[in-house]
Amino acid sequence: MGADLEKVLVTAEDIQRRVAELAAEIDRDYAGRDVLLVGVLKGAVMVMADLARALHLPAQMDWMAVSSYGSGTKSSGVVRILKDLDTDIAGRDVLVVEDIIDSGLTLSWLLANLNSRGPASVEVCAMFRKPDAIKVPLRVRYVGFDIPNEFVVGYGLDYAERYRNLPFVGTLAQHVYTR
Ligand code: XMP
Ligand code: MG
Repeated sequence: MGADLEKVLVTAEDIQRRVAELAAEIDRDYAGRDVLLVGVLKGAVMVMADLARALHLPAQMDWMAVSSYGSGTKSSGVVRILKDLDTDIAGRDVLVVEDIIDSGLTLSWLLANLNSRGPASVEVCAMFRKPDAIKVPLRVRYVGFDIPNEFVVGYGLDYAERYRNLPFVGTLAQHVYTR
């Protein structure tokens, strides 16, 4: 697997340190409230698992799976729900946990969808964001790292369903895309 990587952008240590910082912020901001963490499958599995365990709040967890139609590595903004929440979020404080914000189209659609269900609040925690790729204005309360506008894998992020289990985030060598 090592030979497939071009470079490491964010190390496992940096990720773990940042997750702890974000959890401390969330603990402070949501003190006394009953937060529902909504993870977006499959990419957010790693950040959800680490963030949820770093929180001292009694958080609940639920999951959604969405697919954005579009070719290859580009998002189209046309989103389909593959798995909906099991939880009724009316009146709830919802914190969406995302792996990465690229164009922002998927998240923008998801926020509109969640807001239509009458939650008390909806905020977003995204582990990674590509500021140079953003296409729609988005208010993201918690961001782990802003990264360059390159396709990345690891810490939940995949290329053709591989590399999700890397504990760090990096770019792939060119030969991976052409094989
Ligand atoms: P948008 O463009 O709608 O995309 O913000 C969001 C979703 O697209 C996936 N995505 C990536 N997956 N490496 C990946 O493995 C990347 O660099 C990348 N950029 C976007 C991801 O599922 C994200 O939720
Ligand atoms: Mg995702």
